[in-house]
Amino acid sequence: METKKTIFSGVQPSGSLHIGNYLGAIAQWVEMQKDYNSIFCVVDYHAITVRQDPKRFGEQILDVVKTYLAAGIDPKKSIIFQQSHVTAHTELAWILNCAGARVADLNKMTQFKEKVGESKESAGVGLFDYPVLMAADILLYNTDVVPVGEDQKQHVELTRDLAKRFNNAYGEVFKIPDVKMQKEGARIMGLDDPLKKMSKSATSPANYIALTDTPEAAAKKIMRAVTDSGAEIKYDKEEKPAIANLLNIYSLLSGKNVKDLEKEFKGKGYGDFKKGLAEVVGNFLADFQKKYNQYGDKDIKDILEHGAKRARPIAEETLRRVKEKMGII
Ligand code: AMP
Ligand code: TRP
Repeated sequence: METKKTIFSGVQPSGSLHIGNYLGAIAQWVEMQKDYNSIFCVVDYHAITVRQDPKRFGEQILDVVKTYLAAGIDPKKSIIFQQSHVTAHTELAWILNCAGARVADLNKMTQFKEKVGESKESAGVGLFDYPVLMAADILLYNTDVVPVGEDQKQHVELTRDLAKRFNNAYGEVFKIPDVKMQKEGARIMGLDDPLKKMSKSATSPANYIALTDTPEAAAKKIMRAVTDSGAEIKYDKEEKPAIANLLNIYSLLSGKNVKDLEKEFKGKGYGDFKKGLAEVVGNFLADFQKKYNQYGDKDIKDILEHGAKRARPIAEETLRRVKEKMGII
């Protein structure tokens, strides 16, 4: 009798993954895969809601899988697959568009509003509908828990609403998933602006530390990172948002708690603190990249093919039940 709960999460292959993706999402998956049935997706159909370069897109997809593996996701334990390989995702998204999702729900999504800014009327329909595809991803696998960074919380809440609405209208099919976020790390902020989240779509690479940055490049970004007024190394999100963010990163990557770091750097300035952080980040990146570089493209494609084979029957069974409830013969 299977008693383990299921987790599902995903990352878009839309550019360089950064330490925010790692600390906010992927690191918690690695911990959770021991205790949960774990399914990790490379959401390529989400990524094409904005234009991708066809010459580079395939490589970006493989790079996300390499990141999962280097972080410690084990393809023997967890299912790793590519969204477009399991057609049930787009089919269920269409069904949810018709049987649950409302324009008013999607109009409330802060990520959509942030992405389109003033130019909502010219935004692609896919970008608007993106949370419905995400709901389909989650609901197909009878997911109990969705481990993500804070920016995805609203999308998981919408998923819950869509599932409940469908169940009420047609009868019980979907499990209602919970969101799970890290206590710290759920929102790593940009190095160039501690009031905005670290983002792979940031205009300046000074915003983020990519997981593929060399330790030297990362050190340069850290030494140039914005700081706050004053000179003290103190965790205070309101008064010192930049130092609080750097302390968070330091703490999460070194395993030392913030209070101990404050003590360690008492009486020292921002320069010493940044040097310490650059060393911790550099060691992490060197170790991560050693693992990342050991995978060849063929290994990765095999993992994705195997993953799709395992994911497909689960997804198709849910879709079959959905269609049955709706009278689609
Ligand atoms: P994305 O890059 O949008 O596909 O996000 C992949 C995962 O990383 C999601 O779970 C996000 O919530 C998480 N994430 C993205 N940016 C950050 C950040 N700056 N801090 C923490 N988590 C993040
Ligand atoms: N929208 C998520 C992001 O940008 C990625 C995603 C797509 C996802 N489908 C998902 C995350 C299902 C968790 C579960 O980060």
